[in-house]
Amino acid sequence: MFFYPPPLIKYELNTMLKIREGELVHLIDRKGKRYQIVLKAGSSFSFTRGTVSHDDIIGLEEGSMIRSSLGEKLLVVRPTLAEFISKMRKGSQIIYPKDIAAILMLADIFPGAKVLEAGTGSGALTMGLLRAVGMAGEVVSYERREEFLEIARKNIETFFDKVESGDREGSGKLVLKEKDIYEGIEEKELDRIILDLSEPWRVLKHVEESLRNGGILLCYNPTVLQIYKLSRRLELKYERSFRVMGIYEVGLREWEIKGRSMRPELRMIAHTGFIFVARKCSACEQENKLLTQINAD
Ligand SMILES: C[S@@+](CC[C@H](N)C(=O)[O-])C[C@H]1O[C@@H](n2cnc3c(N)ncnc32)[C@H](O)[C@@H]1O
Repeated sequence: MFFYPPPLIKYELNTMLKIREGELVHLIDRKGKRYQIVLKAGSSFSFTRGTVSHDDIIGLEEGSMIRSSLGEKLLVVRPTLAEFISKMRKGSQIIYPKDIAAILMLADIFPGAKVLEAGTGSGALTMGLLRAVGMAGEVVSYERREEFLEIARKNIETFFDKVESGDREGSGKLVLKEKDIYEGIEEKELDRIILDLSEPWRVLKHVEESLRNGGILLCYNPTVLQIYKLSRRLELKYERSFRVMGIYEVGLREWEIKGRSMRPELRMIAHTGFIFVARKCSACEQENKLLTQINAD
């Protein structure tokens, strides 16, 4: 499977152009309620406050206001990636945008990077990664459940563009693979590996072979027991190959501003997951010499 045209090109062009047929837009009412539609000439969108013709939206500038047949004012915007992720179809539990933002920074995902992730789930993180690696980068994503891969593919296509599916292995900007990562990683010399699955310690030996020296391994897990087991395994078995850089948790609190009231929202998404970051290293020169000596004796 591959991505064509590269998602970044389409995204950048879109933000400069007027809204076109086939585009995904959000209509936001005065109370902040969002309606997501894909524009099709001749179609219309109906909701409790009237009807809007798609033709009236096509050709508008992003940020325009339109009125429904019953006079409801709606703001027309292209959804941000975070807004789309909140609305998209979910098969598996997703990584929330607040954590995706931190992951992109903590794993230092850069334009041109070759990144492998598992599992794909609903594709939320995949989309963040795709945008961060840009036109010169590549994202390979492993998922062992076919139905999740299909949901992810549809989500990615809705936000970016078609994921061509002539060849299930494929090549290009995005490679979606129906594969169990516990059985191995085919790619080598990867810049980054991101794991969002329940037993990341089972992947360490494959990560050791596939991540380049200096590359970053980032694991995302909801419970501290998983992080503990991962750290212990790394310490006991892979100490020569990895250096732990940090363990993090992200809290993001929204504020409510209504008239003269300005205060933190009463409800927030509290604990979601821990972010564990390690760097791949080669053993020290001295250790290598020692090992060579021991082997020679
Ligand atoms: C929590 S979800 C991932 C969510 C995803 N990061 C997102 O943001 O949408 C975990 C996924 O890992 C997949 N998975 C679990 N073990 C796996 C394995 N050994 N190989 C590949 N995928 C695996 C599951 O099927 C599930 O879809």
